[in-house]
Amino acid sequence: MMVNNILRLLSLLAFACSFPFAVEPSPLQDFCVADYSSPVFVNGFACKDPNLADGTDFFYSGLHLPGNTSNFLGSDITPVNAAHIPGLNTLGISMVRIDYAQGGLSPPHTHPRASEILTVLEGTLFVGFITSNPENRLITKVLQRGDVFVFPVGLIHFQRNIGYGNAVAFAAFSSQNPGAVTVANTVFGANPRIETDILTRAFAVDNSIIDSLQLQF
Ligand SMILES: *[C@@H]1O[C@H](CO)[C@@H](O)[C@H](O)[C@H]1NC(C)=O
Repeated sequence: MMVNNILRLLSLLAFACSFPFAVEPSPLQDFCVADYSSPVFVNGFACKDPNLADGTDFFYSGLHLPGNTSNFLGSDITPVNAAHIPGLNTLGISMVRIDYAQGGLSPPHTHPRASEILTVLEGTLFVGFITSNPENRLITKVLQRGDVFVFPVGLIHFQRNIGYGNAVAFAAFSSQNPGAVTVANTVFGANPRIETDILTRAFAVDNSIIDSLQLQF
């Protein structure tokens, strides 16, 4: 009986330890510069010949430029990931610049493949994330210039500019391609649409509210 339990515990431990600690697999070589034109489908991008790699493969220019925040949300994202720097392929990191107009919002969204660490360069942000079911606890903080905040992988989060002028933040991700699922756009803007009946029950509202939300996204 005792031995059985120990064996069970050991096999459980072995199972738990077999998961990698990083979200993305560790590189098996110095780098794997993305060959965007390769017809081969792999997890990420196929590698180009490492002998042909040069500085431009590991380079991006433009994060000094403010994004255009003249939109409904008053915010803009400039991403720099493996689609912009081929040398980031397989390295498990990427970054963005986020610009916010006064009152601008980065609406509730998740990154399915990455944790995010964000720092404010200019302005004041109110930020938060919501813990996973069943807890649904909202954890928030007001950030000033130089402050740093972490959004754990997969959790719904947001940022809002609550200062008197523009705000600028830079954020880094634990994925070469973190992905972004914006809750409102995904649920109400799915193509083809999610049937109204599914959404009226999910959100406990009537058809007209779902129709008007679907029209907006
Ligand atoms: C910013 O975006 C708005 C709306 O799309 C557009 O009208 C405007 O020309 C853009 N401004 C710049 C500087 O690109």
